[in-house]
Amino acid sequence: MLLYLPMSERLQLSIPNGWFQVAYRDELDAEGVLPLRYFSEDLVLFRTRGGDVALLDAFCPHLGAHLGHGGVVEDDHLRCPFHAWEFDRTGVCRNVPYAKRIPAKAKVRPWHCVERNQMIWAWHHGSGEAPTWEVPEVPELSDDSWTSLERRRWTVRSHPQEMGENGVDRAHFQHVHGTKNVPESELHLDGHIRRAIQHVKMRTPRGDVEGEISIEAHGMGCTITRFTGICETVLLLSHAPIDDETVDTRFAFSQNRADAHTGVAAAVVKEVVRQMNQDIPIWEHKRYLPRPMLCDGDGPIPEYRKWASQFYG
Ligand code: FES
Ligand SMILES: [Fe+2]
Repeated sequence: MLLYLPMSERLQLSIPNGWFQVAYRDELDAEGVLPLRYFSEDLVLFRTRGGDVALLDAFCPHLGAHLGHGGVVEDDHLRCPFHAWEFDRTGVCRNVPYAKRIPAKAKVRPWHCVERNQMIWAWHHGSGEAPTWEVPEVPELSDDSWTSLERRRWTVRSHPQEMGENGVDRAHFQHVHGTKNVPESELHLDGHIRRAIQHVKMRTPRGDVEGEISIEAHGMGCTITRFTGICETVLLLSHAPIDDETVDTRFAFSQNRADAHTGVAAAVVKEVVRQMNQDIPIWEHKRYLPRPMLCDGDGPIPEYRKWASQFYG
């Protein structure tokens, strides 16, 4: 029985350009190697002895071994598990232990990657262009007065554009999440950055509390959400496309230690996770409508989509 419409019919969106989280920093020790799959590609992430990270296409150009399954880091190089060819961080083959000459084209494709906010990020661009912006630094995440990351993770059959639209879709808050009112929000678009401020009532053990949520999306892969007035919380939401119909979503929360021991702090995390779990079945079964039939209370969905359109091509 076919439970889902095929991708071409259901979502009709390709993988967007931008920075996407592919790992947490602590998943990759010095000389560590991780096989990954993102952007419909098989990839290998490794860290040199000196601590630098590199992301390469996974398949060795010699006879096709996956460098992430059995590959070993030796100093700055990744050694293939099959015949021990060695590749540097730029993907160039630097050593073939049994050959007199290294074939001139022995190279795997390198990906731009950067370590920031305790995470490792990769740049994806459909036409292979270099990064046009940087992953933003979130100062709270390197500040000792904020808690260590509390993490959640989901694999969702959807697309980052569809999931991001949730924030501007005003009417769903009442009907999917049962919030008492439609959050008031202001949307500001600034190149690849989208900002929104929402004034909300949050459910907490102390009853409903008035608060403010500021949302700052850098492309479709990285959204920084700050909660104030309730319990100072920063949430980094990352949506990384595994392929064009599957998203690896990570939420990383940090809270100001002054508030973090309170029941309200835990309630903020619980509420965000509750809302995410309510959205998932809608996303996993809905269809992307390029021309939706909107009405006046719907929120700035057309503006959001216009902003999103810059991340293709
Ligand atoms: S397949 Fe990688 S060295 Fe042979
Ligand atoms: Fe939602």
